[in-house]
Amino acid sequence: MKTILVTGGAGFIGSHTVVDLVQHDYKVVIVDNLSNSSAKSIKAIEDIVKTEIDFFEVDIRDKDKLSYIFELYKFDGVINFAGYKAVGESVELPLKYYDNNIGGVITLLEVMEEFGVNTFVFSSSATVYGIPEKMPLTEGDKTGAASPYGRTKLFIENILSDVALSSQKWKIISLRYFNPLGAHESGNLGEDPNGIPNNLAPYITQVAIGKLEKLSVFGNDYDTPDGTCIRDYVHINDLALGHRLAMEYMFNKKQSVNEIINLGSGKGYSVFEIIDSFEKVMDKKIPYDITKRRAGDIDISIASIDKAKKLLKWEPRYGIFKMCEDMWRWQQKNPNGFH
Ligand code: NAD
Ligand code: UD1
Repeated sequence: MKTILVTGGAGFIGSHTVVDLVQHDYKVVIVDNLSNSSAKSIKAIEDIVKTEIDFFEVDIRDKDKLSYIFELYKFDGVINFAGYKAVGESVELPLKYYDNNIGGVITLLEVMEEFGVNTFVFSSSATVYGIPEKMPLTEGDKTGAASPYGRTKLFIENILSDVALSSQKWKIISLRYFNPLGAHESGNLGEDPNGIPNNLAPYITQVAIGKLEKLSVFGNDYDTPDGTCIRDYVHINDLALGHRLAMEYMFNKKQSVNEIINLGSGKGYSVFEIIDSFEKVMDKKIPYDITKRRAGDIDISIASIDKAKKLLKWEPRYGIFKMCEDMWRWQQKNPNGFH
C-alpha cells in the first residue's frame, strides 16, 4: 500500500481527494493548520471512508514539525493543497500570500528532498492564464496572472519546473483547476467558505437556503451570448480523481516528470445558465440583481482537457446538474457548513 501526504487535506478540494485516495487503497496522512478549514471535515472524511485518518495540525512552513512527520512515515508522494486562495485579500495582503503559498511550497520541497520523497502534485489554477486570447485554453498558452494570488501560482509553477529540471529523480505535476463545483454525494462533505462567499455557486446556495438575501450578477454586458461571464465548472469528485490519476501516472513512470495539466470539464456555462441549473435542481427561484462588473473578471474561461485525457486517461464523469444537485444536498444538510 502506498502512503501519500496530503497537505491542506482538511480543505475543500483536499478532503474530497483524500476520500478518493483512501477508497482506492492508499494510506493518507493529512497535514493542515486549519487556517481555512475545520477538524470536522476530517471527521466527515472518516465517516465516509470508515477508516481513521492520521492528521497533524501543522503549518507546512514549520520545517521542524514537517520533518518530524516525514520521519514517522515513508511517503511515496505528496499532494499540496495548502495555501491561501482569496483573490481580493491577496491584493490587500500580498506578503501574506507570497509567504504562505510560496514559502510553504519551498519548505515542503526542502523536506521532501531531505527525505528522498520526489513525487509531487501541486494545485495550480486557471487564473494563471490572465486575459486569454483564445478558447479553449491549452497548457502552452501564454500566462499572465492578474493578482498576487495568481502570481503565487505562476511563480510556484516556475519553481517546480526548475526543481524538476534540476535532477532526474523529481516527478512533478501542476494541475490547473478551472471552477470546482459540487460536493460529496453523501451531503456530509463540501465547501465551507468563511464569511460571505466570493464564488458564484456557494453564493447561490446560501441565497437559496435563506442566509443571504439575493445574488448580485456581476455584469451582463460581457462579450458572450447572454452577456454574463462563461466559466468551466468541474465536479469536485472529478478533480479528486484527477489527483489520484496524476499520482498513478508518476508512480508508473521510470523517468522524471515535469508537466502542467488543465482540469476542467471542457464546457462553458454562463452565470445565467448556472442560476438556471440550480433553480431546476432546487425547484425554486434565485432572486438576483444585475450589478456592475467585478474587477479582474474575464468574459470566458474554458479548458482544453485533451492533455489530461491523453496523459492521465482522465475523463470528467459528472455534468452540471449533478454538480448543482450534490452542492445543494450539502448546503441543505449543513446550512452553516462545518460550524
Ligand atoms: P481550502 O482553503 O478549502 O483548502 C486549503 C487548505 O489548506 C485549508 O484547509 C487550510 O487550512 C490549509 N492551509 C493553508 N495554509 C496552510 C499552511 N501554511 N499549512 C498547512 N495548511 C494550510 O481551498 P481549496 O478550495 O480546497 O483549494 C486548495 C488549493 O487549490 C489551494 O491552493 C487553492 O489555491 C487551489 N485552487 C483552488 C481553486 C478553487 O476554486 N477552490 C481553484 C484553483 C486552485
Ligand atoms: C474566481 C477567482 C479565480 C479562481 C476561481 C476558482 C476572482 C477574480 N477569481 O474566478 O482566481 O481561480 O474563482 O476558484 O475572484 N459572479 C457573480 N456574482 C457573485 C459571484 C460571482 O455574478 O456573487 C460571477 C463572476 O463575475 C464570474 C462567475 O460568476 O463571472 C464565476 O465567479 P467565481 O465563482 O468567483 O469564479 P471565477 O470568477 O472564475
